[in-house]
Amino acid sequence: MSGEEEKGVIRISISLPPKLLEQLDEFIKNVGYASRSKVIQDAIRRFITEHEVMWNEEEEAVGLIAIVYRHDIRKLEEEITDIQHEYTQAITSTIHIHLTRERCFEIIALKGKVKHMRELLNSLEGKRGVEHAKLLIVSKI
Ligand code: NI
Repeated sequence: MSGEEEKGVIRISISLPPKLLEQLDEFIKNVGYASRSKVIQDAIRRFITEHEVMWNEEEEAVGLIAIVYRHDIRKLEEEITDIQHEYTQAITSTIHIHLTRERCFEIIALKGKVKHMRELLNSLEGKRGVEHAKLLIVSKI
């Protein structure tokens, strides 16, 4: 593993369950990564970045909420719109897709504090007739 010979790189020893090591090697083979070290370095960086953004409520970030909900439940669409009107600071745009006769799919683009994104997600997913609600925080600003 040539990366470990580089100046400024410290060699460490880690323990992995055999099955996980097998999955790691399979992944390296399939994706074409240079080495185990490179995968582990990238995974650690990604893990730290995700945690910094996801778990810091005051962080300014961009992201999106995707929801699937029942179109055939009376007033639900109206309630979902009302909730969004409370978050005009965070919502930059909304795409509404009429999925089927009974269901709608909505993508809400967000920019602002992570805590507002989470609050909005909680308000939406708690509604009866909202079948799927996911928040994806893409990046810090
Ligand atoms: Ni619709």
